[in-house]
Amino acid sequence: MIRRHFHDLPVEARQAIADKAGLVRAARTADGGLNSGIATFLDTDHGPVFVKGIPTDHPQAPAQRREAAINPHLPRACPRLYWHIETAGWDLLGYEVLPGRDADYSPGSPDLPLVAVALAELQETTAPTDVPIKAAEQRWAAYATPGTAALFSGDTLLHTDLAPHNVLVDDRAHIIDWAWPTRGAAWIDPAILILRLLEAGHTLVEADVFARRFSSWRTAPAEAAEAFAAANAAAWQEIARADPTPWKAALAGHAVNFHAHLHAMSEDR
Ligand SMILES: Nc1ncnc2c1ncn2[C@@H]1O[C@H](COP(=O)(O)OP(=O)(O)O)[C@@H](O)[C@H]1O
Ligand SMILES: [Mg+2]
Repeated sequence: MIRRHFHDLPVEARQAIADKAGLVRAARTADGGLNSGIATFLDTDHGPVFVKGIPTDHPQAPAQRREAAINPHLPRACPRLYWHIETAGWDLLGYEVLPGRDADYSPGSPDLPLVAVALAELQETTAPTDVPIKAAEQRWAAYATPGTAALFSGDTLLHTDLAPHNVLVDDRAHIIDWAWPTRGAAWIDPAILILRLLEAGHTLVEADVFARRFSSWRTAPAEAAEAFAAANAAAWQEIARADPTPWKAALAGHAVNFHAHLHAMSEDR
């Protein structure tokens, strides 16, 4: 989606934001991120706010509504949602501004231990039952070998999109961009993080060793982890076929390699 600027919003939407956030003194469009129609840092009479918005008729508008609904249930390190408004054809979220920068996942990065702490905290979070989020066994059902999706179930709150630009780092790491909250087995987020570590240049063994910091991944049943790796590889291959953007093809490749790696390890046992 094309990123638009604050001043491209209809005047009613800008007025609604000012009603919530105070008179807007300056607006700066975020350069990171990929999905939002607008993602902008505002300086207002009441202080700074990060505004993320999408047209209400956009296919990703439901994801933004999920993001709003899950916010009160997130660990403390995640940014607070100040307000959520729908006006003039726009769905708009106003967030606390975090001072961080995107995480660096490259091998040896000092951000990695901070990312591990943030994910460990999330691993302790139970998915709320009063917010309509997907269950992992439904989310990946269409990609899983028949009969295996039930292995993905659990009651942990999962982020499921742990790209480095969805983790902001200052003196700690903050997991942001909750468009895909999911309820499932705790080991799924470490399995997803592995693909992003591979993308950043880790070897299969290094990425797996990193994920083994999480007890959920250390104790995940091999059959379940392998079934998920297969389903996630199928999902990424579909994403890469639909859109030839190079990073998507690369992630699909990592997902296929990681599944092959787990499969080879299980054959060795
Ligand atoms: N609360 C926040 N404070 C500071 N920066 C943020 C905040 N939320 C998002 N950002 C920045 O804006 C970018 C886009 O936000 P994100 O929620 O990831 O939206 P998208 O759906 O466009 O990926 C992020 O990658 C990050 O750099
Ligand atoms: Mg993002």
